[in-house]
Amino acid sequence: MGPARPGLRFGMRRLVSAADIDRFRAVIAHRLGLGFEDAKSAFLADVMRRRLDVGGQTPEAYLDRLDAEHRDDEMGALSQELTVSETYFFRHNDQYRAFAEIALPDRLGAQAAAKRLRILSAGCASGEEAFSLAMLVRDAGIDPSWDVAILGVDVNPAMVSKATRGLFSEWALRETPADVRRRWFKPAGRDFALDDTLRASVTFEERNLSRDDPRLWQPDTYDIVFFRNVLMYFTPENGQTVITRIGRAMKAGGYLFLGHAETLRGVSDDFHLRHTHDTFYYQRKQGAERATPLLPAITSFAAPAPAVIAAVEADTWIDAIRSACERIETLARSPRPSASARQGSTRVAVMPTWDLDLARELLREERFAEALDRIERLPPESGQDPDVLLLLAALLTQRGRLVEAEDTCRRLLDVDELSAGAHYLLALCREHARDRPGAVNHDQVAIHLDPGFAMPHLHLGLLARRAGDRGAARKELEQALLLLQREDSSRMLLFGGGFSRNTLVALCRTELAGCGGQA
Ligand SMILES: C[S@@+](CC[C@H](N)C(=O)[O-])C[C@H]1O[C@@H](n2cnc3c(N)ncnc32)[C@H](O)[C@@H]1O
Repeated sequence: MGPARPGLRFGMRRLVSAADIDRFRAVIAHRLGLGFEDAKSAFLADVMRRRLDVGGQTPEAYLDRLDAEHRDDEMGALSQELTVSETYFFRHNDQYRAFAEIALPDRLGAQAAAKRLRILSAGCASGEEAFSLAMLVRDAGIDPSWDVAILGVDVNPAMVSKATRGLFSEWALRETPADVRRRWFKPAGRDFALDDTLRASVTFEERNLSRDDPRLWQPDTYDIVFFRNVLMYFTPENGQTVITRIGRAMKAGGYLFLGHAETLRGVSDDFHLRHTHDTFYYQRKQGAERATPLLPAITSFAAPAPAVIAAVEADTWIDAIRSACERIETLARSPRPSASARQGSTRVAVMPTWDLDLARELLREERFAEALDRIERLPPESGQDPDVLLLLAALLTQRGRLVEAEDTCRRLLDVDELSAGAHYLLALCREHARDRPGAVNHDQVAIHLDPGFAMPHLHLGLLARRAGDRGAARKELEQALLLLQREDSSRMLLFGGGFSRNTLVALCRTELAGCGGQA
């Protein structure tokens, strides 16, 4: 324990500098993997003061020690201060239905010879998730000769001991159907005590997911992992590391469930995305399916040239895009000398074969036909590059060559399965093919993969409006309106169908007003 700072005693408000907070934030990210934005600095300062009061240390001594060694006791105490432990039985029940009807039967089939099933609830909090899984496992009627284990782990020791006690409040059972309550719980004062046999079927351990823990992360172990509502609190680097560990510790073909707001896009491509029961989850790729390194997405466009505001009266979104293209083509026919275009064409001669700068420049100038021509003249090897494929698919869609666009999207998904852009463009193609359920499905996948992506919300809103579902239309259009205002300008250019942000916002407002929404 370090010496107390002169002049500071227990009970006094300790002085914690901005530099101390920054260091504290960095140590927490390193030890626990948790990320805290600048807006949380005051909260971090309060936590740090409380910890200093307990240990009677100076900030320097406390941080030096935290930095130098991993201290389970201090990590446990910090996790109680810093983590969010909200959970309840059957939270997001769609995922439990997918677990019971898809993941569990599939893994029981895959493991029939070994007769061994391993389930992990990673970041289990007070155990409701692991016990919900245990109830469904019991209902599956697995032969007693099987070796079945469900493990719940959490870094917060208070949560782990609460889980082990098996005593739950009415609030934790708010989504639990009455018959399930009657079957598995007995009233215990104001709480509910879980059935002893069910309690014994789950093991809980205090574990830090952000540590390289060989026992927890044994390769080829877990059939099904629930890792829900934890990733969102991690720093991006730690999230990626933990997902890699989870992936390695899972069996090929095993299932991974994340929270509703969490996605593996840009994090890992070791998993296939699955979409059933109105929910999303992932399946570990088989060993033979080589992981493809993620290539950077197109991010380097300059702001788009202002587009002409057009009235949007077309029947379908595709028609709208096509009419935009025609409008742009008319504009493009008149020569528009541009310094950037001249610079682009000079540069092409010395650029590597499939440099995309000129095509992007042409796109930025809304010269879609020329941009497409440029991409189509690239060597065939470029057809493995996700950037090329996305640009090509967007341009083909804009040109109304939808069969080719769809084929390009599917090739793109072969190399980058979690491409939100490919799914959005597929939604447009499916709509054109009069496959409304297919269009809705691809929009939903795009939104799952990238919750900040405005266009699939707008498209879903327009589809719902056309189908007469005013409630759904309002919900999607309101979300689109919100997201459009902060949508990345390169994405507006690529997916906006030739419309400017202002035009799309205006379209959104008009459509919203048409279905009784607040524009
Ligand atoms: C919001 S709860 C999620 C509970 C449950 N998975 C669910 O979705 O209902 C997040 C849990 O993750 C745990 N957690 C956060 N960081 C962790 C870490 N580094 N290692 C293990 N658990 C962690 C927290 O202690 C907390 O109990």
